[in-house]
Amino acid sequence: MTAAAGSAVPLLLCALLAPSRAYVLDDSDGLGREFDGIGAVSGGGATSRLLVNYPEPYRSQILDYLFKPNFGASLHILKVEIGGDGQTTDGTEPSHMHYALDENYFRGYEWWLMKEAKKRNPNITLIGLPWSFPGWLGKGFNWPYVNLHLTAYYVTSWIVGAKTYHDLDIDYIGIWNERTFDVSYIKVLRRMLNYQGLQQVKIIASDNLWEPISASMLLDSKLFEVVDVIGAHYPGTRSVMDARLTKKKLWSSEDFSTVNDDVGAGCWARILNQNYVNGYMTATIAWNLVASYYDHLPYGQCGLMTAQEPWSGHYVVQAPIWVSAHTTQFTQPGWRYLKTVGHLEKGGSYVALTDGLGNLTIIIETMSHKHSRCIRPLLPYFNVSRQFATFTLKGSFSEIPELHVWYTRIGRPSQRYLFNQLDSIWLLDSSTASFTLELKEDELFTLTTLTTGSKGSHPLPPRSKPFPRVYSDDFNVDYPEFSEAPNFADQTGVFEYFTNDEDPGEHRFTLRQVLNQRPITWAADAYNTLSVIGDYKWSNLTIRCDVYIETPMTGGVFIAGRVNKGGILVRSARGVFFWIFANGTFKVTGDLAGWIIYTSGHVDVTEKNWYTLTLTIKGRYCSGKLNDKPVWRNIRVNFPRNGWAGIGTYSFEFAQFDNFHVEVSR
Ligand SMILES: *[C@@H]1O[C@H](CO)[C@@H](O)[C@H](O)[C@H]1NC(C)=O
Ligand SMILES: *[C@@H]1O[C@H](CO)[C@@H](O)[C@H](O)[C@H]1NC(C)=O
Ligand SMILES: *[C@@H]1O[C@H](CO)[C@@H](O)[C@H](O)[C@H]1NC(C)=O
Ligand SMILES: *[C@@H]1O[C@H](CO)[C@@H](O)[C@H](O)[C@H]1NC(C)=O
Ligand SMILES: *[C@@H]1O[C@H](CO)[C@@H](O)[C@H](O)[C@H]1NC(C)=O
Repeated sequence: MTAAAGSAVPLLLCALLAPSRAYVLDDSDGLGREFDGIGAVSGGGATSRLLVNYPEPYRSQILDYLFKPNFGASLHILKVEIGGDGQTTDGTEPSHMHYALDENYFRGYEWWLMKEAKKRNPNITLIGLPWSFPGWLGKGFNWPYVNLHLTAYYVTSWIVGAKTYHDLDIDYIGIWNERTFDVSYIKVLRRMLNYQGLQQVKIIASDNLWEPISASMLLDSKLFEVVDVIGAHYPGTRSVMDARLTKKKLWSSEDFSTVNDDVGAGCWARILNQNYVNGYMTATIAWNLVASYYDHLPYGQCGLMTAQEPWSGHYVVQAPIWVSAHTTQFTQPGWRYLKTVGHLEKGGSYVALTDGLGNLTIIIETMSHKHSRCIRPLLPYFNVSRQFATFTLKGSFSEIPELHVWYTRIGRPSQRYLFNQLDSIWLLDSSTASFTLELKEDELFTLTTLTTGSKGSHPLPPRSKPFPRVYSDDFNVDYPEFSEAPNFADQTGVFEYFTNDEDPGEHRFTLRQVLNQRPITWAADAYNTLSVIGDYKWSNLTIRCDVYIETPMTGGVFIAGRVNKGGILVRSARGVFFWIFANGTFKVTGDLAGWIIYTSGHVDVTEKNWYTLTLTIKGRYCSGKLNDKPVWRNIRVNFPRNGWAGIGTYSFEFAQFDNFHVEVSR
């Protein structure tokens, strides 16, 4: 048993003079629904991109805070994107099948992440869900349900690949994130899974709203049979009648999406309780797991913690990690909620769960709307005020002698506590098994029979540093751990390490854009490909890169500076883009789409030759060189003033890049 900490926190036991409202926790009338866990999403998209290149020991430390049992967030569920080559919010993630007849289960980093999670918690539940799909599945249509068997085969292959190449058992599979479901497809997917011996893999539908999936299930008994879990996104703690009528498991299969400061942590605390209290949801999954993408991409810092500086090793363990711990460290999937859960009289809520073996965990939150706003507002707004709450344990809990107490208070710098253990509450001497708490705004309590909780810690990570001002990559890696080069964040297209087997020379190892077709998109992907790198604040700089166009006639590549948009906004990215084309022309544009043309002309360029492009931007002027000879100079640019460096291609075409070098000047 751990001694008390943080004794400054007033915690009142037993009788009080103040008026107090009574709440009963009882299992004599049976139990509520089975709890399925708390988790988070990696992907949707590329949200873990920068994590993978953290140096050790920091990378392992971050993973410990996320997954290690009884340490930090200690997540029960990890949901990953099935990379589909398209832009899915903060970048693209590579597919295991870029082309028909192509199969590769070593691309991207989700396999690695799932293995790291399993290493720490062998019981973690794994979920896969597609956002975008590779273009060939659509046979010319931007639609994944053209050939249902093909799409089901594609998804099932990912599950089989997980097992074959990584010994990962995928527990649940989804349909199409926040997009239309096709009833026939769901049935075909079930049959395909069964055919491949994957009867144990359960289906979640439809990762969108409660309807129309719930009504469809009530009307179609076959669909009803094959859908195991109804997963809704950002349900605002509510479910609908149809969903409850199915008696299926209801999950908030994506939620949170809020900046991970104390306001976001308050949101997380409230929905973890109230998704069950208001909506009978038995799992809640945060988007996203860890904010490991460049800060100025959409939804910056909307992870349970932040790790966006692999170059410095700096990361931040924010309050949502400790809010998660309040539930995750004292429950397990398979526990059951008590029926006696609910709202507190003056705002806030309480839930209680049991393992059925005598253990009890009670979680109480009093998050005020003022200090804990979610990205999607929860209605109705209600205020939280100071209150005294008396909890009485009945049924099989009436003999519990001691409850261990964990405490968080957020939103107030001077009275901020994150997952502190307080003195236990002893129930031995009381004639009734009850205790009274004084509850104030923005508090979170866990009271539990379990002794296993702990606030894990690693030494403080290195200080935050900006991206290095001089940065080079020659991509000369024989057996890379990951398919993508560090720090390059693909925004449309997929850029992978590539080996030119027939070229023993300087360009044997390169970075190659590997999509030859527009994916079945989930977002407004650009029509060109683009990978960004560096610091969004970069303004004056020289970018130099060897480039190799593979496509005759129509092919083209570019290097760029001051790229000001990515993620779901990539299509409207502005910047300075220096393009060369296989037809012997060049162009300088102020945007990725190529509408704003600063200059253009002829150069001696063809496909299947290496060229060195240099782009220099200083103040309002920029200039470009080809093989160190000036091609254009002193072009005036007024906007944008800053942004990332970038490389890319004119279309979805193969092209290679080598000896990337950027130097930032003042
Ligand atoms: C995994 O689950 C089993 C059975 O529920 C349990 O005994 C074991 O302690 C769990 N392991 C971890 C690391 O949580
Ligand atoms: C509670 O859980 C612990 C750890 O899983 C277990 O050893 C114990 O038997 C359970 N029951 C009670 C009443 O503590
Ligand atoms: C909450 O408090 C505000 C002022 O603090 C008040 O205007 C509002 O009516 C209150 N809401 C409820 C539901 O009591
Ligand atoms: C050269 O190719 C580019 C890209 O395909 C095209 O946009 C441009 O019009 C072509 N220029 C000429 C002069 O053919
Ligand atoms: C970029 O260069 C211009 C012109 O030399 C200068 O005025 C400006 O302050 C520089 N910007 C930064 C961020 O260093």
